Amino acid sequence: MTKRIIVTGGAGYIGSHVCVDLLGAGASVLIIDNLSNAHEEAVRRIGELAPGGIEFLRRDLADPAHRRDIIDAVAAFRPDGAVHLAGLKAVGESVAEPARYYRVNIGATLTLIDALEAAQARTMVFSSSATVYGDANPNPVGEDAATAPANPYGRTKYVIEEMLKDLARSKASEPGAAWRIANLRYFNPVGAHPSGRIGEDPNGVPNNLFPFIAQVAVGRRDRLSIFGDDYPTRDGSGVRDYIHVCDLARGHTAALDYLGGAAAPHVVDINLGAGRGYSVFEAVAAFKRASNRDIPYMVAPRRDGDIAEIYANAERAQRLLGWRAEKTIDDMCADHWRWQSANPEGYRS
Ligand code: UFG
Repeated sequence: MTKRIIVTGGAGYIGSHVCVDLLGAGASVLIIDNLSNAHEEAVRRIGELAPGGIEFLRRDLADPAHRRDIIDAVAAFRPDGAVHLAGLKAVGESVAEPARYYRVNIGATLTLIDALEAAQARTMVFSSSATVYGDANPNPVGEDAATAPANPYGRTKYVIEEMLKDLARSKASEPGAAWRIANLRYFNPVGAHPSGRIGEDPNGVPNNLFPFIAQVAVGRRDRLSIFGDDYPTRDGSGVRDYIHVCDLARGHTAALDYLGGAAAPHVVDINLGAGRGYSVFEAVAAFKRASNRDIPYMVAPRRDGDIAEIYANAERAQRLLGWRAEKTIDDMCADHWRWQSANPEGYRS
């Protein structure tokens, strides 16, 4: 790939892995990140893992005062397209501060759209989420399943997808002005780069299962709370489709290749999942095997808004992108543990 790609949120957990994959495929990358939930050290380590071709602009896409700078920097970079990951992503926080979530997630996207329009680079891979699906769909969940996000965070993802569809339709028949957009609906990204140099480093108490387990294993937290053991699943705990972050990253590179092809549609939704589910108890057992550490836990009440079970139908990604998840739950745990044990305090270690 000899492309020039903007990566918003490129210093974050998923973004850093996307950058390494793109750089490894021969692309040049301009990261735009305000470091609100990321570290400049991650940018340095991306460069260490995939030397050459990386630029970094510390700006906030949602801040009107940074808009001009961003539009100018994007134009100067002469991009072929963008991977858009910048945004807020904590479910609980989104319930408490919905206006901020809409302002930041949608505002950032609008600035990126304007910058790409100005640079005449109308290709975007958007970081969406399986959270756009309702909880009433039969598993495995395909892209045409009913959408019904359950919280403001999920609704910002859904609204952005709809906005991008409107955008794609608006210019579809204008020669030279048509957009090519892929909404990638991630299932549950976990794990880390096998080098152990980049990985997930959440601010404060982790909301998600894997970073919490990893912090228990490394001794930063006493015990995991398992949110419910009375769901109608095989062992009573919640079942999710965990996907290795490096498989996920590869899906972005494949999506950009696809959007650059002659047969690419103006806009498409694509699930990125492994296509199978693991329960919380199974995930804990796998992490225990990989880390050889004890993972003390207690069963706690169900968490508000959680559903029993969801996993992907990932056939569309296979058919359109030639992509499928390759790494196993044991790879996910081993790589997550390598990162956590080598960087017990994350990038501050
Ligand atoms: N869980 C626990 N204990 C914890 C954390 C999670 O038992 O401390 C359980 C949950 O109840 C669930 C499973 O582990 O059954 C996975 O939970 P995560 O929080 O890791 O993942 P979710 O499926 O809830 O989250 C996914 C995405 C989020 C997104 C969310 C929207 O990873 O980014 O869907 O609902 F915001």
